[in-house]
Amino acid sequence: MSSDAEKNYQRAYALSLSDPDSFWGSAAEDLHWVKRWDKVLDTSRSPHGHWFVGGQLNTCYNALDRHVENGRGDHLALIYDSPVAGSEVASFSYRELKDLTAKFAGVLKSNGVGKGDRVIIYMPMIPETVIAMLACARIGAVHSVVFGGFASNELAVRIDDAKPDVIVTASCGIEINRIIPYMPLLNDAIDIARYKPSKTIVVQRSQEIAELQCGRDIDWQEAMADAEPADCVTVNATDPLYILYTSGTTGLPKGVVRDNGGHAVALNWTMNTIYGVEADDVYWAASDVGWVVGHSYIVYGPLLKGCTSILYEGKPVGTPDAGAFWRVIADHGVNTLFTAPTAFRAIKKEDPEGKLLGKYDLGEFETLFLAGERTDPDTLSWAEEKLKIPVIDHWWQTETGWSIAANHKGYGLLPVKPGSPTKVAPGWNLQVLDDQCNLMPAGEVGALCAKLPMPPGSLLTLWNAHERFLESYMEEFPGYYKTADAGFIDEDDYVFVMSRTDDIINVAGHRLSTGAMEEVLASHVDVAECAVIGIADQLKGQLPLGFLVLKAGVQRDDETIVSEVVQLVRDQIGPVAAFKQAVVVQRLPKTRSGKILRGTMQKIADNEEYRIPATIDDPSILEEIDAALQTLGLSSARQ
Ligand code: COA
Ligand code: AMP
Repeated sequence: MSSDAEKNYQRAYALSLSDPDSFWGSAAEDLHWVKRWDKVLDTSRSPHGHWFVGGQLNTCYNALDRHVENGRGDHLALIYDSPVAGSEVASFSYRELKDLTAKFAGVLKSNGVGKGDRVIIYMPMIPETVIAMLACARIGAVHSVVFGGFASNELAVRIDDAKPDVIVTASCGIEINRIIPYMPLLNDAIDIARYKPSKTIVVQRSQEIAELQCGRDIDWQEAMADAEPADCVTVNATDPLYILYTSGTTGLPKGVVRDNGGHAVALNWTMNTIYGVEADDVYWAASDVGWVVGHSYIVYGPLLKGCTSILYEGKPVGTPDAGAFWRVIADHGVNTLFTAPTAFRAIKKEDPEGKLLGKYDLGEFETLFLAGERTDPDTLSWAEEKLKIPVIDHWWQTETGWSIAANHKGYGLLPVKPGSPTKVAPGWNLQVLDDQCNLMPAGEVGALCAKLPMPPGSLLTLWNAHERFLESYMEEFPGYYKTADAGFIDEDDYVFVMSRTDDIINVAGHRLSTGAMEEVLASHVDVAECAVIGIADQLKGQLPLGFLVLKAGVQRDDETIVSEVVQLVRDQIGPVAAFKQAVVVQRLPKTRSGKILRGTMQKIADNEEYRIPATIDDPSILEEIDAALQTLGLSSARQ
């Protein structure tokens, strides 16, 4: 006999596929619409589906004003907690957050930003970042948040693609023990970019006062002092809410475009169905607003639902210790925490016995959700044992905006299978395909693909690149969305996500492209050829490792060249790439047709069993690679 949880899930899942109009139409009733939709799902324009076509709403209104008008204006919307900014804590009720957002929307408007215009937000984890995002949504402008750990060059690429009228920034970010001045990075980016934004708005933080350029830079505080609050602008459900750039298989990132209507409906629905939270709950996504987790679950999801969201500017360890998460949970009565497994591995490394847990009252803490990378069984069992609450892995991507597979707390939790994010979420018709687009039997690994249409909240297109959108996601498996993850679905319908099928790696839960790093290495004057692979790392899950073949006649020593390419990646992509290791080799292993055997190199580096590919040009190169890797303590030298 299946459990109630299983029955609830099965019923909802079946309805979501058999009658998506009624399933998502009823979810949409929870929101405020200026005009009701004509059609819930429209596949006439694109087979992946446009949602709530003809409907009109405002996402900011639904996230803020609606709650104030419903009598919940005094309920806490946002708690900012920053151990790195000197233990600063600030709380904002829904009314306060709405008023500040309306004022900043007025600042944007008075600087010429209107419906459909882009605004880049290059900011640390401070309340003004959330206010800037919501202010864009309020006036129908399209925000594009750029993660603070990216270098000027990456910011410049995004400026050129999004062509923002205005950039909102802060004078600095704060890492554990260093201040990162943002203005030099922003000034360099604007110098590099071909497109020049007319204005930047700068939040001056007390830790670093930036020098402002007359005529271009505007002080946030000064602008807010004279601002007229702006009202919500009605937009179409299918109008873009934001662009979020994510790593693609080349150096050119993909600008994932999210709509207003489908996004609001899907995220609001996930809050109860997946996370099991209600409006009075305190929800904490310990991520960064620069990533999709931050967009969906620091800002939009919890606020649409009316929860209190935590904005934490700190790390799981080092701010000041491995008890930081427990301190935040206790101080603010957090019910639900969502973070990446790497954060838990960092805590476990520093405090393996979980002694610091004993210092705090975690009585309100109900559920831990993990995503961003596969939750390894060791981390899962450590967290379960120490916290004694359900620990839930769920699988999603920047493109999807919310889970493709999860254990749905709102339906009742199903038994956990370690290594699996449990079952396919409603709305997703996930299949495992071979490379001829045939369905694979249960338990066999293949490409994880979702039969079209995709549910609401998934990407609308890629900014300025609809052809690339179709080519990247829809062409290889016609009729399906390609997740670019490989995995299997077992006989109990549990999903297992094993690896990426492209050159994306996941470093500390951050999505990075090895192809983009290769482009940087190849630009070094002494490098003839190169490859970057992701190798296993106990803390960060994966780390990038470079192989360099030098040009004939290069006399400089290998160490110098390696340190130069390491610096080059830091300067061009940013510290977040965590590119610290490279090795000089004579040749790279290739197939007879010239394809670099990166997969084989990765297996050698990780000391995994591998078969010598039948198509290899010269198998003896593998021994050279092995020997070079041993000098780094990798390959058979790995412990
Ligand atoms: N601005 C500037 N630099 C940043 C940055 C930011 N916003 N975020 C990270 N960096 C820098 C770090 O300081 C580090 O620099 P370093 O090479 O000088 O040490 C580098 O980028 C790499 O960062 P990271 O990989 O995060 O390593 P870390 O050692 O600083 O922290 C963890 C490791 C596991 C504690 C950290 O990655 C973490 O908390 N991860 C949580 C998961 C998460 O947020 N996932 C997002 C999706 S859910
Ligand atoms: P991002 O777009 O940064 O969210 O990264 C998405 C990628 O991270 C996915 O395509 C997966 O490769 C990986 N990922 C995210 N969550 C999980 C998970 N729970 N299990 C396995 N892989 C995951």
